[in-house]
Amino acid sequence: MSLFTMKNVRKTFAHGEVKEEILKGIDVTLPEGKITALTGASGSGKSTLLTIAAGLQTASDGQISFEQQELTSMRSEELRQIRAKQFGFIFQFAHLVPFLTVEEQLALMLETAESSLSKQEQKKEIRQVLELVDMWKRKNAYPPSLSGGEKQRVAVARAIIHSPKVLFADEPTASLDSKRSQEVMRLIQRLSKERHITVLMVTHDMDMLDYVDHVIEMRDGKIIQEDSIH
Ligand SMILES: Nc1ncnc2c1ncn2[C@@H]1O[C@H](COP(=O)(O)OP(=O)(O)OP(=O)(O)O)[C@@H](O)[C@H]1O
Ligand SMILES: [Mg+2]
Repeated sequence: MSLFTMKNVRKTFAHGEVKEEILKGIDVTLPEGKITALTGASGSGKSTLLTIAAGLQTASDGQISFEQQELTSMRSEELRQIRAKQFGFIFQFAHLVPFLTVEEQLALMLETAESSLSKQEQKKEIRQVLELVDMWKRKNAYPPSLSGGEKQRVAVARAIIHSPKVLFADEPTASLDSKRSQEVMRLIQRLSKERHITVLMVTHDMDMLDYVDHVIEMRDGKIIQEDSIH
């Protein structure tokens, strides 16, 4: 049994009277502990699929299973718990809280995930993760004083501080130049390996495919190609 699978997932949006099917029966199995990239033209449905997978919006039809639990038939409180404790998120922009320091961003995340660690252990874990993304030296900094790459490294740290099993990322490098993009991808790759995190990541940037294990290409709401690279 796989960690995370989607079967015949469909999504329909209504534009006034007209209904439009944006996802037309998607089947996905994420290779466990690996990075899967979701590519395809703008408007092909990548973000819609990612946010449905992550439980941030609901599918119109189909099944999504995580650790043998059916997410589509779950009550919203159960789903919220899974989202907060087992999933991590990174978006195109870091979306850090401007009035919290780097260290406090991570502490807030542990609180939201109802971490079972003691305060002492939480402090240690925060330090370890910030060292991992090379941001411990900026632990007391506020987001407005950080560069784009530094912000995104904090966003990556925040996404994994609660040890999620699955990390969902929507164009995590799109706001960065190519050098910073590669740094962030190398970081995601290392974290995925070391912490055995299964990653689903939307990207437009073909250079980023050097860092992934599996590629799914979408067109017009359907998967048109799927390849394992490693
Ligand atoms: N909430 C919504 N209501 C109506 N239509 C939507 C909604 N969300 C997305 N769509 C439509 O679904 C289609 C797919 O959108 P989506 O954002 O998933 O594409 P994408 O592949 O992520 O594109 P991009 O690469 O530009 O980010 C688009 O035509 C979009 O207009
Ligand atoms: Mg998108």
